[in-house]
Amino acid sequence: MNILILGSGGREHAFAWKLAQSKKLSKLFIAPGNAGTASFGTNVNISTTDFEAVKKLVLENNINMVLVGPEDPLVKGIHDFFLADVQLKNIPVIGPKKDGAQLEGSKDFSKRFMIRHQIPTARYETFTKDTLVEGLKFLETLQPPYVLKADGLAGGKGVVIPTTLENAKLELTEMLGNSKFGVASNKVVIEEFLKGIELSVFVLTDGNSYKILPSAKDYKRIGEGDTGLNTGGMGAISPVPFADDVFIKKVEERVIIPTINGLKQEGIDYKGFIFIGLMNNNGEPFVIEYNVRMGDPETEVVIPRIKSDLLDLFEGVANGNLNEKNIELDSRFATTVMLVAGGYPEEYKKGDLITGLDLVEGSIAFQAGTILNSELQTVTNGGRVIAITSYGDTMEEALKKSFANAQRIEYKDKYYRRDIGNDLKGYY
Ligand code: AMP
Ligand code: GLY
Repeated sequence: MNILILGSGGREHAFAWKLAQSKKLSKLFIAPGNAGTASFGTNVNISTTDFEAVKKLVLENNINMVLVGPEDPLVKGIHDFFLADVQLKNIPVIGPKKDGAQLEGSKDFSKRFMIRHQIPTARYETFTKDTLVEGLKFLETLQPPYVLKADGLAGGKGVVIPTTLENAKLELTEMLGNSKFGVASNKVVIEEFLKGIELSVFVLTDGNSYKILPSAKDYKRIGEGDTGLNTGGMGAISPVPFADDVFIKKVEERVIIPTINGLKQEGIDYKGFIFIGLMNNNGEPFVIEYNVRMGDPETEVVIPRIKSDLLDLFEGVANGNLNEKNIELDSRFATTVMLVAGGYPEEYKKGDLITGLDLVEGSIAFQAGTILNSELQTVTNGGRVIAITSYGDTMEEALKKSFANAQRIEYKDKYYRRDIGNDLKGYY
């Protein structure tokens, strides 16, 4: 089979690495890809939301399946675009249609979905510009901190958690009254703050049956000790030590089954990944958010722990016979440490030469913000540059390898968090 992966991050490099191991793979294309994906297939420099360009690429290269990495093309309806086109309609897309993608594309939709299907989540209300006054009053009924979420996609920046009522009111006024996040904040969800420790659970579904993939925990803040600005993710660990069988069973019964059944009941034919962001509150799972794709950097620890042929599982998704497939997992830990550009997540430079990739030993360097320059050298091309994934019989052993290799790779102003996994050490 010829496969096209859409996206350009560490997630897509990890997918390319895994799909390249499949006997069923003939040719791999990645659009736009990065310097890392180039070693597994052909990078094609088009935008993931330029559907006409994607169509041309698919037809010219006899592509048999498209795996969508990021949420943007899904929310914009790439799967619907394929189904509506006579030449593309029989080419499976791994990722939901527009209706299913709303689980990520609209916080208000996803909260209403959870309430309709009795899926545990924080108490909330949604407000618009017209109901700003009611929103300000609602804030007064809550205890700090306050959780305000722009309804639409805001590049991972749409959630703010002010600690005082005064700041919460200012923030709500900015979001609704002054369109702080553009149209994404035309509606704002205000919800109760959930206490506990976060983790993510991933599901692959053909719309009827599902496979639960390994759990993972990511590290979102730029600074050690979970301080400073939010990022796309600075590292990840899988499995999550506190997500034992009892906890995962609760997640399956209270969240996964009602989600799959809820989608079916509502006539949403969902084929793809569901990323469930959870809060573990004293052993009880609450849903913080859904994403309609895999996480980044979570993919860089989840996918390496799947032993089965991923392409075979994707065929199960496409053909609706995922229930006939087995998924075999690697029992080892996987950890990833993200090397980022100095200044990220604020201003940072691109184009700096990366050295030492050939010195990496005992880890996999999944590339994210990298590109080959005109002299075919690998240079930085984004905020998050390289995710260094390692296996270990213990989390510590895996982390030790990731950190050792983090030192071997060099570029100007390299930064990474040295405390990935520290918060989990008490859970053994
Ligand atoms: P989201 O984009 O919905 O995942 O929110 C971003 C981050 O905000 C989450 O990863 C949590 O750390 C935090 N967060 C969101 N909702 C809540 C909540 N209800 N209680 C506590 N923290 C939250
Ligand atoms: N690492 C979080 C995300 O992919 O949304």
